[in-house]
Amino acid sequence: MKILIVPTKEAAIVRAADIVAAEVAAKPDAVLGLATGGTMVPLYEELAQRHRAGNFSMAGVTSFNLDEYVGLAPDHPGSYHHYMAEALFDLTDMRKDHAHLPRGDVADPKAEALAYEARIAKAGGVDLQLLGIGQNGHIGFNEPTSSLGSRTRIKTLTDSTLRANRPYFDSDDAVPKYAITMGIASILEARTCLLLGLGEAKADAAAAMIEGPMSAMCPASALQMHPQTTVILDEAAASKLQLTDYYHHVHPGGQESEYS
Ligand code: GLP
Repeated sequence: MKILIVPTKEAAIVRAADIVAAEVAAKPDAVLGLATGGTMVPLYEELAQRHRAGNFSMAGVTSFNLDEYVGLAPDHPGSYHHYMAEALFDLTDMRKDHAHLPRGDVADPKAEALAYEARIAKAGGVDLQLLGIGQNGHIGFNEPTSSLGSRTRIKTLTDSTLRANRPYFDSDDAVPKYAITMGIASILEARTCLLLGLGEAKADAAAAMIEGPMSAMCPASALQMHPQTTVILDEAAASKLQLTDYYHHVHPGGQESEYS
């Protein structure tokens, strides 16, 4: 894992946006794996701002989101379809017919999960997978004890995740209890991964992911097996790492090393 520690949240967003923009500049028809959550909102704002300034185009990009809530239609304000439209797609030149998310409101969500895997494969796989991290170490909605060999499927959400999601819904009962999520093995097939972790609330999860044993108890730790993963952390999210001096030594200020 390439660990880039930057001084502030703002610097982390710019660093992540630079990596996404470089990928798309090098390959305008890139397949991006996209994530949701509060962490991604300022990153998408930055990309939309670069688009408005004429420096970033998604016109040739195909995207696949990690997950969607079971039971929510795309126009539900709590759905990830809605989130993506508002946060990124409607603010850039992303083609709607090239933007894929699992459908949560289908009659057979299990079949939808299988079909989603097939759609990703047909597109040639993901070039760059964006990831956030849950406070319990989840990626996508792969909650702790998810199989490290898992594929796209339905997961039951933990109490911790339900609590984290509560602000986005009107009542406790409205918070979805299930999600369709790309599996850990599906995520690891991306050619490169970029995980963004911001704030003190992510410090334990970041430490377990980077320096803990690889374990289903911290699903993000499976990224230790991925050969091309970059992790960008602000100082707060990096505060519980043990080898911080080394990460700063290799990547001063979060910059590339001589041999990157
Ligand atoms: C949800 C998403 C994850 C995301 C996580 C963290 O569970 N399914 O992809 O990483 O939230 O969200 P936040 O960035 O709001 O902390």
